[in-house]
Amino acid sequence: MKATIYLSLFLIGLQLHYYHFTGPHVVQSSYPNIQQQQSTLDQECNTGDNVWHKIIPYNADFAFRLYKEMSSTIEDKNILFSPISVSSALAMLSLGAKSETQSQIYDGLAFNLSEIEQNEIHKGFCQLMYRHTVRAYVKTGNALFLDKSLEVLPTFLEDVRHLYHAEDFSIDFLNNTGAKHHINDYVKNKTEGTKINTVKYLSKNTRMVLVNYFLYKGEWEERFIPELTLEEDFFAYGNTTVKLNMMLNTALYKFVRDEELFCSVVEVPFSGVAVALFILPDQGKLKDLESSLVKEDLDKWRTSFQYKDIKLSIPKFSAYPSYDVKRFLQRLGMRNAFNQHADFSKIAAKHNLRISQVLHEVMLVVNEEGGVVAGAMGPSFTFFADDPIFLLPTLPPPLVMTFNRPFLMFVIDSSTGTILLMGKIVIPN
Ligand SMILES: *[C@@H]1O[C@H](CO)[C@@H](O)[C@H](O)[C@H]1NC(C)=O
Ligand SMILES: *[C@@H]1O[C@H](CO)[C@@H](O)[C@H](O)[C@H]1NC(C)=O
Ligand SMILES: *[C@@H]1O[C@H](CO)[C@@H](O)[C@H](O)[C@H]1NC(C)=O
Ligand SMILES: *[C@@H]1O[C@H](CO)[C@@H](O)[C@H](O)[C@H]1NC(C)=O
Repeated sequence: MKATIYLSLFLIGLQLHYYHFTGPHVVQSSYPNIQQQQSTLDQECNTGDNVWHKIIPYNADFAFRLYKEMSSTIEDKNILFSPISVSSALAMLSLGAKSETQSQIYDGLAFNLSEIEQNEIHKGFCQLMYRHTVRAYVKTGNALFLDKSLEVLPTFLEDVRHLYHAEDFSIDFLNNTGAKHHINDYVKNKTEGTKINTVKYLSKNTRMVLVNYFLYKGEWEERFIPELTLEEDFFAYGNTTVKLNMMLNTALYKFVRDEELFCSVVEVPFSGVAVALFILPDQGKLKDLESSLVKEDLDKWRTSFQYKDIKLSIPKFSAYPSYDVKRFLQRLGMRNAFNQHADFSKIAAKHNLRISQVLHEVMLVVNEEGGVVAGAMGPSFTFFADDPIFLLPTLPPPLVMTFNRPFLMFVIDSSTGTILLMGKIVIPN
């Protein structure tokens, strides 16, 4: 079946550091008590108050901040990331962090702890995950791969199992190739064999890997007509022109013109509750748009949308970008997690762990969702066909929106407001 697919993987590798002298960050003293320690977090996230909505604005803030960091250095390539994947994995990691390391993760994720409590954050992620998976349109989950030699604290394992539904595996990281296979097989199995080649490289000292995967297969509510897909020019970044297939559909779409940001926005719904937003900056205005875009603009657009007849043309493309997002997270303030001050003593008090790599890989396939060609006879198509007998004299011509130059896009779960995917497409391929 053809569908618009998006898969993201977020992987955090932690490595072990052996200290030869006693420094301030060797925290063995707390170790003897851990067996008695109780998990302080709610274990049944769907009982009690609904708090998921409290984390939505912070998550959106984080998404826009991360986008800004990425777009300030990545100009000529596609940017695609899954904000929910990144923030939920880092929130899960924060359960194992202490002191500055922990507060920098919360700050970096845009959480303000004087406005929201830690247990609300984790319960919020737990409830969101439940909401996203219960509708069966999303497959998402977390996993921990732990080296056999790590003495992981039971409290941490309990928390990540209950709040992030994480599965954990004890494997042998000394067998680097075996560990890579293990992780990749797991991901492949969980994501229906999608051909994403996750871990190509695991640093030698890695003793723990945390994985978040997110798979979404959407079908456009209003299918593009495969017969109308035509090869056309796409004016990619830096005045290069590439030939690619442009899909076409004319229908009523939600539309808004933003005169402040010099862009036009079209909402293309999937069947179900998710929508894609395609944002076309005016000629030469991409950089301006990127630098002034804030999360409030999303709300502004979504409240001022109006239905319009649109002759919509978007590229049929796939993109498989992957990034080491470490430097972006560091610039968002998560510094200690990566250096000698890292304090992950709530994961394993006996060991000194720090993050060695943070990989994010996204696969996006956009197509007509032409599994059912008979869908081409949908009423909107017939109505707006170029056949003059169907055109009523009073009908204004549809607005033409052709995404044949770099554009921004979002995929949003409209029932929760969660940004599932955010990015910029400069060269569809
Ligand atoms: C955090 O929230 C408090 C209370 O609303 C506010 O005064 C403070 O400025 C916020 N901090 C940041 C960094 O936004
Ligand atoms: C490493 O793991 C692979 C795959 O699981 C296995 O085939 C291989 O025998 C292992 N090597 C060693 C030295 O244990
Ligand atoms: C893949 O998943 C299925 C069910 O989800 C399970 O039965 C099977 O053992 C898994 N295979 C591997 C290699 O993990
Ligand atoms: C693209 O072409 C325009 C004129 O056609 C030129 O002004 C501009 O500098 C070019 N941009 C790049 C990045 O080459």
